[in-house]
Amino acid sequence: MVGKKTCPPYNMALSSQLTQAAQILAAGGLVAFPTETVYGLGADAEHPSAVADIYKAKGRPVNHPVIVHLSPEADLSYWVKEIPEEAKKLIAAFWPGPLTLILKRADRIPDAVSGGQHTIGVRCPSHPTAQALLRAFKNGQGGIAAPSANKFGRISPTTAQHVRDEFAAELQSGLIKMVLEGEQSEVGIESTILDLSRFKTHGAVLLRPGQICIDQLAAVSGTIPAMPNEGDSTPRASGTLEAHYAPNTSVVILPTEQLTSTIEQLHNANKKVALLHYSALQSNHLLAEIRLSEHAAKYAHGLYASLRQLDAANADVILVQAVLDVTEWQGVRDRLQRAAHGSLGVLVGLLK
Ligand code: TXA
Ligand code: MG
Repeated sequence: MVGKKTCPPYNMALSSQLTQAAQILAAGGLVAFPTETVYGLGADAEHPSAVADIYKAKGRPVNHPVIVHLSPEADLSYWVKEIPEEAKKLIAAFWPGPLTLILKRADRIPDAVSGGQHTIGVRCPSHPTAQALLRAFKNGQGGIAAPSANKFGRISPTTAQHVRDEFAAELQSGLIKMVLEGEQSEVGIESTILDLSRFKTHGAVLLRPGQICIDQLAAVSGTIPAMPNEGDSTPRASGTLEAHYAPNTSVVILPTEQLTSTIEQLHNANKKVALLHYSALQSNHLLAEIRLSEHAAKYAHGLYASLRQLDAANADVILVQAVLDVTEWQGVRDRLQRAAHGSLGVLVGLLK
């Protein structure tokens, strides 16, 4: 084979890492890996004690179900009881990609992945490393249970370094065996979650907005998904808790017209301010500042990394310029509102 072009060293290294990662998963270990939305913390979905280790690492309540990731070639009917017509249409339009469907769980699948519920969340990621891992694992027919690779309630990771920072102790102790490298997740916020498990009685229910927005779902399925009922606790989705995706620093969302005067007031009160915004704003009174795109998809791509960076500045508050109330921004608005939950009295307290 002398003179023949071989695979570049990077790919060889990656393919041996993928083989190793697939072996770790098959042996019941945990592996973090990139997806197009955020990084996931993966375990064999059919290995209840491996799934239990995910909860342990994340510090997540055990009754919160996790999403099962499948390769494009996987047999979905192995995992779910039935595939409604709506699901078929949505899968044809959006898989592989950032859409999770909640369907009725097949009896053979251990209930550890669904927190004891009779449903299962399934998603086929488009990220090449995630797909390569799924193909290397159980000949492409396995399922990788993977929540976002962050501690419960914290900001989801969009880089491998975020994962290593968040789980330094668990990597050291061996509870998490490996972090697969990848670039910064393209989408940047978690997948859209659509519940079709009670379609006949409740229609489609949008449990979590994401990059694929309600209009796109409606255009493909022919019906407009409903929003979850307040107080309807099943199915549970931790990404739908009011307080989630939160930095340590309090986050306060402000309308554009209040930003400059609030920054001024906080400065006069000797408070340190970090700012996340998307339109032009001049101020000498900011400890840290990140300006993201005016386009929803690009903004989402940078959102979590920016929140982490601003959090690290140790300001008294992170001010966030309110984003538009239109469907395109629904996923971002949702994450910002959850990050800001409980911060209502913060400004009053800081300006006292
Ligand atoms: O983009 C994503 O979805 C990322 C990547 C890694 O794929 N994963 C992710 O997982 O965000 P996690 O666990 O952080 O959020 C998944 C959400 C949770 O809110 C969970 O409760 C919900 O999906 N979920 C999973 N299975 C469910 C089910 N059977 N019924 C209701 N909700 C479910
Ligand atoms: Mg999460």
